[in-house]
Order: sequence, then structure tokens, then C-alpha cells
Amino acid sequence: MVIVDKEKCIGCGMCVRDCIALNIKLEDKKAGIKNECFQCGHCVAVCPAGAVSIPDYDMKDVEEYQAESFHLAPEQVLHSIKFRRSIRDYKQEKVKQSDLELLLQAGRYTATAKNNQDCYFAFVQDEVEQLKSIVWDFIEDMEKSEGRKIAKELLPYVAFNRRRKSDPKDDYLFRNAPVVLFITSDWQLDAGLAAQNIETMAVSLGMGALYNGFLARIADENEKLKKWLGIEGKTIKACMLLGYPTRHYVRTAPRQEANVIWK
Ligand SMILES: Cc1cc2nc3c(=O)[nH]c(=O)nc-3n(C[C@H](O)[C@H](O)[C@H](O)COP(=O)(O)O)c2cc1C
Repeated sequence: MVIVDKEKCIGCGMCVRDCIALNIKLEDKKAGIKNECFQCGHCVAVCPAGAVSIPDYDMKDVEEYQAESFHLAPEQVLHSIKFRRSIRDYKQEKVKQSDLELLLQAGRYTATAKNNQDCYFAFVQDEVEQLKSIVWDFIEDMEKSEGRKIAKELLPYVAFNRRRKSDPKDDYLFRNAPVVLFITSDWQLDAGLAAQNIETMAVSLGMGALYNGFLARIADENEKLKKWLGIEGKTIKACMLLGYPTRHYVRTAPRQEANVIWK
């Protein structure tokens, strides 16, 4: 439920105009809430008087906007987008818990459809070897049960497993990354957007990421793994490897011209 402190409310109507649910009205020059809503928090964020609160959230978590301190110039933003690279080789260096917390905050503050806030983040670092065993055992079992008629979509995993067995360092799925992150969500895009923000944060921390579609797919089929991760019944929509890159890219990677229509 949204609460308006009538003492603090200055009757400016900002929350009324910003409310997507048309859920706030002005009465006697004070904002009043009509119904329950999906608690997007815009009314809290826009109120110049700090009169609105949503007790279902931890209101101590809400921060005041600091005008100049964090402005990013457009060139800086485009620069960081252009120089972000998929990282497929990682230093054997542990990621600090405080940095993992920042990655989590980047995911947590991401937009979600209908303000669902439906993402679940499973970070694995301390138990990454156990994670790998669960995944590779699953692939081995699948290979055995499929016998000679291995389904086409499973063939890459069989190949990855053979490579790893002949050289444990040649690990296509995990790339020796110190951290593996699984994101579940009800809507595909929610997890995707969170993953992108997490990668942006990772880069700012000197780390890099790889969106790992192969691992996401096989992990989602593995009920034992999902139970181990505490995400039974949920669908893994994104999987990322995270850690410190072993090399740096000295120029941008080329891209096709954009497919675009201007009207
Ligand atoms: C949804 C998604 C899944 C991906 N899955 C894999 C993967 O399983 N293995 C891999 O090596 N790269 C994977 N990639 C990375 C792409 O190959 C990479 O983004 C692309 O080649 C462009 O390179 P860049 O990210 O360095 O710009 C994936 C990327 C996305 C967006």
C-alpha cells in the first residue's frame, strides 16, 4: 500500500501526473491514494517533499538524487557500450563479495515488466566446482541414456564434454570463470535487461562477462541443479560467466550497419 504523509504533502500534484495506474487524486490540495497498485515507486521517487512511502519496501533504501555527481556524458556511455566485449578467458582470481553485491544491486534495480521484480539471482563462486560436477554429470548421463541416437541439439554438449575430458582446461561451458550467475524470471526480457545491467556494472569494476546461452539451456533442463541452486520450478532465462579478463581489447569489434527505418 502507498502512504501519503498529509503533513508533508504540498499538493503539487506531481505524483498524480506521474502515476501510471491513475491511482492518486488530489483532495483538498493533498494527494490521496485510491486503490492498491503494482507499487512501481514513481510516486515516492517524484515527490519533491518526500511525503510518499511504501512500507512494503525498505524505505531506508531510498536515496536522494545528487544532481551533478553522477552524470555520464553520451560519448562515455557509447564508449562503454562499444568497448564491452564477451569475455571467454578469465584470471584465476576470486571476486570480492562487495563487488558481487554491486552486481546484485545492478540487477535488482533493473526495470521489469509490470514492475514484477520477478528475477531471482543465483551467484556461484565458492561452490563453482560442485556446480561444474552437477552440470557435467548431467551431460554424461544424458549422453549415456541417449545411446547412439543423440538428439541434434545435444551434440554440442557431447563435443564440449569430450574436449574437457581430453584437456580439463579446455572447458567450453565454464571457461574457468570464477563466478557463474543464473537468472530466472517470468518474462524473458526481465532477465535479459538485468543481465545487461550486471555486465555494465561488472565492466566498471574491471571485470567482464559472457552471456552463456549453451549453459543456460542445459542448466534449465537439469532439475537436480535447479534444486541445488534453490530455483526449483523456475525457468533459467539467462546465465553469465563473470570474472577478471586475461586480455584487453585495443579497438572496437566491427559491426554490420544497423537495420533501421526512420520515419
Ligand atoms: C543471449 C546470448 C547468448 C550467448 N551465448 C554464448 C555462448 O553460449 N557461448 C559463447 O561463447 N558466446 C555466447 N554469446 C556471446 C556472443 O557470441 C557475442 O555477444 C557476439 O559474438 C558478439 O561479441 P561481443 O559480445 O564481444 O561484442 C552469447 C550472447 C548472447 C547475447
